[in-house]
Amino acid sequence: MILAIPKEVTADEKRVAVSPSNIAAFQKLGYEVHIEAGAGDAASMPDELYRSEGAQVVEGSEKIWGGTDLILKVNPPTLEEAEMISEGVTLICFVYPARNEELIKILSAKKINLLAMDCVPRISRAQSMDALSSMANVAGYRAVVEASHCFGRFFTGQITAAGKVPPAKVLVIGAGVAGLAAIGAARNMGAIVRAFDTRPAVKDEVKSLGGEFLMLDFEEDGAGSGGYAKVMSEEFIAAEMKLFAEQAEEVDIIITTAMIPGKKSPILITEQMVKSMKRGSVIVDLAAEGGGNCELTEPGEATLAHGVTILGYTDLPSRLSTQSSRLYGNNLVKLVNLLGKADAFLIDQEDEVIRGALVLDQGTLSWPPPKVEVSQQPSTPKGEVPPVPADKEAGGSSIFSPSFMLGLLAVVLLALGWKADHEFLDQLTVFVLACFVGYMVVWNVSPSLHTPLMSVTNAISGIILVGGMLFVTGAQPWIDTKSILAGVAIFLATINVAGGFLVTQRMLKMFRKQ
Ligand code: NAI
Repeated sequence: MILAIPKEVTADEKRVAVSPSNIAAFQKLGYEVHIEAGAGDAASMPDELYRSEGAQVVEGSEKIWGGTDLILKVNPPTLEEAEMISEGVTLICFVYPARNEELIKILSAKKINLLAMDCVPRISRAQSMDALSSMANVAGYRAVVEASHCFGRFFTGQITAAGKVPPAKVLVIGAGVAGLAAIGAARNMGAIVRAFDTRPAVKDEVKSLGGEFLMLDFEEDGAGSGGYAKVMSEEFIAAEMKLFAEQAEEVDIIITTAMIPGKKSPILITEQMVKSMKRGSVIVDLAAEGGGNCELTEPGEATLAHGVTILGYTDLPSRLSTQSSRLYGNNLVKLVNLLGKADAFLIDQEDEVIRGALVLDQGTLSWPPPKVEVSQQPSTPKGEVPPVPADKEAGGSSIFSPSFMLGLLAVVLLALGWKADHEFLDQLTVFVLACFVGYMVVWNVSPSLHTPLMSVTNAISGIILVGGMLFVTGAQPWIDTKSILAGVAIFLATINVAGGFLVTQRMLKMFRKQ
């Protein structure tokens, strides 16, 4: 099967869908990789690099679009490109199906399979294929670089012989993927960073990057469904705008990323706020494509208003084309992997990632996909009691409630007490209590505390080990029930102790700096 990578033709697009380092992964899947001559030039990835990795460099767009089975691209194809596609081909690229109806009609008539990178669901399993997030990450970083380029001062504070330089103050509105990348980059350059988001859940992430999370005296959680935010009430927007108006007078740079997918970006920075900013300040409006978060943003343009530079660039990932191409290529490798080896190529609609991204299935429209629930911890609004499971709600009246089980146990023990000898009864009581306490301890501990819990179970396993050894040493005869049981206990406890150390070691490694 041939996998083709055409040159991007959209104006000012510098990215290429696949970088040379991705070629080996596609070849391993059994694809013959063809790339259009000069496709990677603008991303500093010349044809020779692709050739040295085993790709075939093809001259001319018609050849690349015509003779292939799978096409990997960044931007949606232009109408001319769509005309060049052969029937039955699979195309993977950004599609934005809601605003590209005509294109989808043309591709549908050609019975092609169309997978949209912008429709990959935001679920944990699909993180490695989430090109929107990788591009937003690049955009957040680049927004800071662009801001520092237009800003006439250092970001970091300095005390020099020529005078004291105060650090720049940066406000980031919207701490999603792009916002967090911007916070990290601005902090690394030495600025004082403040951030605000409608989802208070991101507070810790902002703090861990060295930013200060601004709090609003207004209760409304912005967490929506699908891993995105929800539209906020008018009262909330008014309250946050009051906060931004105060901040605008103080900060030097504002980076806005507030958006809700499929909706117009909310206006959060008014002309009045721009006027109140210091001369030489900079606003980078990442939400420009959706209209912008600043009233004066002109999408795609850099403008100067009231002495403030307002950047409405919509091509920030392309301005860092080498990095973006590498990350996008990695996202594509993961997605193509999901489609299986070249000789067993399958668009498996049972897979929620593929189903989410699938726009056309052999020409049949399959977008929008059914909703996917994201693996997010649902937050319980303040004052609301979390729902109680049905059996618990019934006041523990189930016959298997702990009190019933305890009562039953007491009756059985009493019955045994009449018959069994004293020593057996002692050991049985200890065993049953140990099981009960062990069960309660493990099941009632929250998962976040399982690591410390493991140390406790390690300690218990240690005691079992010593006890088992004492039992086995000097046991006469060697093979009787007790020594066999002690042997099994030693074996299981050893697994527990060794496993505990291994897992702890792995966890420690995760936190160690490379
Ligand atoms: P995201 O969904 O991860 O983050 C958006 C954040 O804004 C969320 O945390 C949300 O809670 C917050 N938000 C929404 N409404 C808000 C409000 N009223 N006040 C405060 N915070 C609010 O999105 P991501 O991936 O970080 O992208 C952010 C923006 O950057 C999008 O508009 C996206 O289109 C844009 N973008 C722009 C690029 C460019 O070249 N200009 C390139 C890539 C992304």
